[in-house]
Amino acid sequence: QQTVRRHTPRSIAALDAPIVVLTAYTTPMARLLDPHCDMLLVGDSLGMVVYGMESTLGVSVDMMVAHGQAVVRGSEKACVVVDLPFGSYQESPQQAFRTAAEIMARTGAGCVKLEGGQEMAETIHFLVQRGIPVMGHIGLKPQAVHAHGGFRTVGRGDEADQVLRDALTVEQAGAFSVVIESTLEPLARAITEKLSIPTIGIGASPACDGQVLVVDDMLGVTATPPRFVKTFASLGADIDQAAAAYAQAVRTRAFPTARECVGMPADHTADNA
Ligand code: KIV
Ligand code: NA
Repeated sequence: QQTVRRHTPRSIAALDAPIVVLTAYTTPMARLLDPHCDMLLVGDSLGMVVYGMESTLGVSVDMMVAHGQAVVRGSEKACVVVDLPFGSYQESPQQAFRTAAEIMARTGAGCVKLEGGQEMAETIHFLVQRGIPVMGHIGLKPQAVHAHGGFRTVGRGDEADQVLRDALTVEQAGAFSVVIESTLEPLARAITEKLSIPTIGIGASPACDGQVLVVDDMLGVTATPPRFVKTFASLGADIDQAAAAYAQAVRTRAFPTARECVGMPADHTADNA
């Protein structure tokens, strides 16, 4: 049997084509996305997307491990990156190392992502020096939603200089790539021009080296997705229609029929087996 070589942080950083990234949280979705994506991100957005939380602050290491395992099981080609959740790495480089090592050991993922710029440079360096490939995440940092004052565009005025400094220090610290979230276009463009590592944008700009979206947003499952999302399917509407059709079929006893039932007189599947 042919073995597929999985993308690694190194091979991702070496890609020159636009890098294709989507979030994934479950095995069946990872199976469907894997053939098309360079990376699958097990984002802590799962707290909001899968669990209905108001922010990502309540996501635990165990939740990230469970979903990280599911996505690794469902993929063979994409590089799987798992988010370090809030409170599991900000205290010290040592705490970050322990968390990253636990997540990688328990999931089999080959790298982690953490939010932060200058303030996380020492931590990124510490992890990278010890064999843990790190993806950075700058601009809007959802784990800092309370400090940001909400989910908003970042990088107006003086803020732009800080985000650019964040980008440079994250690269210098050894990150193999960096997510830029919800920044003004000129800022994402300037960062992408200055950095040699690939930038992955979400609500950032077409100038980024790659793009990431939350899969439920791009599939049209999320009720009110952020403005920067493009929906490539209408699964929310499909599911609504399917549930309505099912409900109707059950209530009218149109489902199940003999075809969907084992052992009824009209069922010949047992004989044919
Ligand atoms: O958690 C997440 O899904 C993310 C992406 C939005 C970049 O961090
Ligand atoms: Na995240």
